Amino acid sequence: MVKQTVTLIKGDGIGPEIAEAIKTIFAAANAPVAWEEADAGLYCIEKYGNGLPKETLDSIARNGIALKSPTTTPIGGGHKSINVTIRKTLELFANVRPCKTFPGIKTRYDNVDLIIVRENVEDTYGGIEHMQTPEVAQCLRLITSVGSRAAARYAFEMARIEGRKKVTCVHKANIQKMTDGLFLRSFMDVAGGYPAIEHSDILIDNLCMQLVIKPEQFDVLVLPNLFGDIVSDLCAGLIGGLGVAPGGNIGTDAAVFEAVHGSAPDIAGKNLANPTALLLSSIQMLRYMGATDHAALIENALTKTLEAGIKTRDIGGSATTTEYTDAICAAIADLPAVAPSAEAIASRVRIAREELRKEQAPWTIKGVDIFVRTTDISLLPKSVGKLTLTMVSNRGTKIYPGDIPDIVIVDCQRCRYTAQNPLTDDDILEFLNNFPAELPWMHIEKLHEENGAALYSKAQGE
Ligand code: NAI
Repeated sequence: MVKQTVTLIKGDGIGPEIAEAIKTIFAAANAPVAWEEADAGLYCIEKYGNGLPKETLDSIARNGIALKSPTTTPIGGGHKSINVTIRKTLELFANVRPCKTFPGIKTRYDNVDLIIVRENVEDTYGGIEHMQTPEVAQCLRLITSVGSRAAARYAFEMARIEGRKKVTCVHKANIQKMTDGLFLRSFMDVAGGYPAIEHSDILIDNLCMQLVIKPEQFDVLVLPNLFGDIVSDLCAGLIGGLGVAPGGNIGTDAAVFEAVHGSAPDIAGKNLANPTALLLSSIQMLRYMGATDHAALIENALTKTLEAGIKTRDIGGSATTTEYTDAICAAIADLPAVAPSAEAIASRVRIAREELRKEQAPWTIKGVDIFVRTTDISLLPKSVGKLTLTMVSNRGTKIYPGDIPDIVIVDCQRCRYTAQNPLTDDDILEFLNNFPAELPWMHIEKLHEENGAALYSKAQGE
């Protein structure tokens, strides 16, 4: 039999109970998986000095696939979240959350069946933040073509393998023209390689309204990190809450699947935990591996069990974890068995790092935006070296040239100095050396052009 070795992290709290349920169900379905158990969780802090031993990360890297039960993050004590460490260490660039309504799980909607692909590394989650002045805090929002292409590529590959019809890019490129503009352009570029799959795009605000009105119109959604974080919890709400929400973190070389909920210490060890979310995560994992027939078999058995009204206490039933697990195994026994196919398993989605990079056209430097701490723009020099002051904006609104609009002027001005001819780094150093010492500046940004097109945003009213 063709089997894929998968790292199994049983975690702590209810983790071991629900991981055991998955092992039992996979054995009943004869799923093509050989488990390699690895440690992570609260108990590892005592045993190894940290919650995520190196051996566990090595096991995930070696096998390329892991199923992870929840782990407790101790409050205080400087312990990092195990999930965040796994995500960052293995650069798991996409967070993928299927959202599907199941019979017997109470929701306001009947037939939601969509998948969210959230870029998982970049955006404001880089956590690059600085106080600019006592009045102004700044967060650097980095969106890259590499990260955006990776998320889009995964979404289309998954859509192709799973027979999904349409992929939609969610963005705010009408306002965030450079960052979300790059996310959208990267998506469109990738979409061109999948003519058989429909593609579209939608503004994040419209998406939120459409999701609560008619969620069944969506199939696969691709979003930058922050929008994806918010929308994936909204979508979990559409299907009955976090208790039934599965998820996978996908990278170029590894993927880790996990339930969205935590370690539920209040019910740990009582045979009350609901293994559905981890089971749905393991079904998602089987699809990722290409074992789609086994994924369908287990999903059908789960549907039959819920349809028969067999549910755990948290979703309105009375079954214990083991009774619920046994009912799913019995449903599997009633369905036609499926055989693992080597061909299907070899078809799993793989995104190579090399294919994410793109050729870049040469750029020229047109000028700089220098961010200066002052509330009196009359102090700004009209020219410095080869550069001339062409625009000042306050929180993005133009206040020079022309009349100053009736707004609160905070103490951080974006002062745009440009030149007729392309500049060099030496020109910019000269500019900085000659900038008036009595005007403190926080940072500068180069203004680039590509074939005459500006690679920076204009101010409101410019
Ligand atoms: P939680 O999700 O563990 O529990 C919230 C509530 O939902 C509790 O009443 C719990 O009994 C219930 N619940 C959760 N999962 C359930 C299940 N499968 N079956 C039945 N009931 C379930 O969230 P909480 O209490 O905020 O976090 C507990 C610990 O878990 C914390 O240390 C937190 O950091 C960690 N955590 C770990 C995650 C992971 O490893 N993926 C994700 C979220 C939290």
